[in-house]
Amino acid sequence: MWGGRFKDGPDAIMEEINVSIDVDRHLYAQDIAASKAHAAMLAAQGIITASDAKNIAKGLDTILSEIGKGTFTFKRALEDIHMNVESRLSELIGPAAGRLHTARSRNDQVATDFRLFVRDTIDETDAALAAFQHALVERALEHADTVMPGFTHLQTAQPVTFGHHLLAYVEMAARDRGRLADARKRLNESPLGAAALAGTSFPLDRHATATALGFDRPMANSLDAVSDRDFVLETLSAAAIASVHLSRFAEEIVIWTSPLVGLVRLSDKFTSGSSIMPQKRNPDAAELVRAKTGRVIGSLSALLIVMKGLPLAYQKDMQEDKEGAMQAFAALSLAVRAMTGMVRDLVPDAARMKLAAGEGYATATDLADWLVRTLKMPFREAHHVTGRIVGIASKQGVALHELPLKEMQAVEPKITADVMKVLSVEASVQSRTSYGGTAPKNVRAQAKAWLKRLQKEQKLG
Ligand code: ARG
Repeated sequence: MWGGRFKDGPDAIMEEINVSIDVDRHLYAQDIAASKAHAAMLAAQGIITASDAKNIAKGLDTILSEIGKGTFTFKRALEDIHMNVESRLSELIGPAAGRLHTARSRNDQVATDFRLFVRDTIDETDAALAAFQHALVERALEHADTVMPGFTHLQTAQPVTFGHHLLAYVEMAARDRGRLADARKRLNESPLGAAALAGTSFPLDRHATATALGFDRPMANSLDAVSDRDFVLETLSAAAIASVHLSRFAEEIVIWTSPLVGLVRLSDKFTSGSSIMPQKRNPDAAELVRAKTGRVIGSLSALLIVMKGLPLAYQKDMQEDKEGAMQAFAALSLAVRAMTGMVRDLVPDAARMKLAAGEGYATATDLADWLVRTLKMPFREAHHVTGRIVGIASKQGVALHELPLKEMQAVEPKITADVMKVLSVEASVQSRTSYGGTAPKNVRAQAKAWLKRLQKEQKLG
């Protein structure tokens, strides 16, 4: 492509370090779409003839189908997707192919292609997260009344409902989708026509190519257009946060399915065995979701580091933006789909959950609240009285609701038998009716509202 100035070909090592076709071949559809938009605009502006534009478009369509069918030969000597496509175009249509690159550079080309690619990725990830939310909401509705232990410090804290726990992840996924939507909004401007860095002397219509490619507008500054990768960084940041959410959930599945805990069981479909220990049921999928987070966070930090020292405008360093980002997006996509599968698959052990919910004096707060509500005791004093009662129960090795009323009255004579009705785990969760609380009726209402929202969204999409 630059034979005018060069007489020798590249050293083998030069070719090896410079080549990007193994990665940017994944941009072929976007590259061809952008080239078609560019050629049509060049013709409309009278920069190339209509017949050249027609031949270019036809040739590009042929290349698109060749790549789609797998009959296209990618050549490493041609470095990247842009030159592979252009070289094949000239084989197909002859010299007219050489007019396609008028008023364009690979710098604005690659920035355009990758914006389109990241935009598609955002849309796919959003759809996958919506399916994840849908699976969670359905299981939450099914388990609005299933009582489980809620933890802080991984110590039994207060009883909650399993549905409530699942809905927590629906909320997180909603914010993840919001972050991706934000990134998409800012990303959706067209670099095409910025050329190498300074713009061009040809009378381009950058608004036309922007519209043709579904962008909201052309980018306003040619230097910025070719040299920022903040759209990748922003999407990777959103992806990293989403991955962390999935990883926390995966970690919970690992804990819940451990025989030590036994709150949840996964079917054979999401479990693997051990080659030596016949009894084992390992939650490999959940473990790998947890691990894939490393790639996503790693790609984000790698690209931040690549970008941090680069002066304007394009630097070849930026070629390193794609491989890590593509791997990160693929890892997130797989993680979301695996978690969706596990949410549909998992079977909570309701009896074990209920038992565990009552362990460790999880309804102690309910007793303290009763003292405050019924005896008008200040909460701090109620906390102290309850603490003494828990101490007695613990010494006798019984649960709070098993402790004789007399023992409680020895600590606080005004306690009546009425207290017994707040000490069960069911009563505890049913009483948590404050907005956002774990009460089954709250969970049912929230799950139904989410279901409606997701269904409406699906209809609009
Ligand atoms: N393969 C390059 C990349 O991904 C395309 C842009 C090359 N531009 C250049 N001036 N060498 O960044």
